Amino acid sequence: MPFRLPAKEEKAQYVLSQFDRIARGYDLANDCISMGMHRLWKDKAVKTLLSSESGSYLDVCCGTGDLALLIASRLKSGKVTGLDFSGNMLDVARNREVRYREKHNTPVQLDWIKGDALELPFQNGLFDGAIVSFGLRNVTDYQKAINELTRVVKPGGRVLNLDLGKPEGLIFPPLFAFYFSQIVPLIGQVLQNDRKAYTYLPESKRNYPDPEGISQLFKNAGLADVRHIKLASGSVALTFGIVR
Ligand SMILES: C[S@@+](CC[C@H](N)C(=O)[O-])C[C@H]1O[C@@H](n2cnc3c(N)ncnc32)[C@H](O)[C@@H]1O
Repeated sequence: MPFRLPAKEEKAQYVLSQFDRIARGYDLANDCISMGMHRLWKDKAVKTLLSSESGSYLDVCCGTGDLALLIASRLKSGKVTGLDFSGNMLDVARNREVRYREKHNTPVQLDWIKGDALELPFQNGLFDGAIVSFGLRNVTDYQKAINELTRVVKPGGRVLNLDLGKPEGLIFPPLFAFYFSQIVPLIGQVLQNDRKAYTYLPESKRNYPDPEGISQLFKNAGLADVRHIKLASGSVALTFGIVR
């Protein structure tokens, strides 16, 4: 049966069940699908996010917590909050924190919160910066999610989105489309016996705006100095802006 994207009103429940199901093997699959490159992109994102070596930062749609821990590893003090609506993804994140603390002595506090990116349970201007990484595509209202990220960051702080972009050149776009639609589901099948979840991932790109569109959503949210950086020949984009 051909894959059918969930209707808007079913999307959140659908996405939640996909990620709850694949949480345990997500990290291995993520490394395989991106050929380890998501680590480099996240490194770039964290360098762009942090304005100093202390502060309070938010990672929305934090999944298994790798990015939140990467932020924590670059801070000398402060707090990192990871928020996700999948309890199973957060369980993996909490275990990852335990393993991290066994090896590293960090004073940085980590909080894992179960919540919705569209209704962040935080007061206005609480954080020094906020990021969403490979999560925005999954929410039902992109603008609302960016508005929420903007709302909870202090004036002068940064809001970032790291996600799929628009592959550039003649050869790369069809190769990328083939890889994403044919190979990624195969990787999901082999590693997690779950072709369906990894068929949703490429499909989630279908209605997702290109980097110019995402920049516009940032501007609509009132962010200043909005820019985006193209990574991996444009197939990934890091968009950021400053809270006024
Ligand atoms: C592709 S994973 C990305 C995880 C991680 N940020 C990364 O870069 O690897 C997307 C995550 O977004 C979460 N998510 C999707 N919609 C959400 C929502 N409305 N509120 C909170 N989390 C959401 C999913 O549960 C999943 O953990």
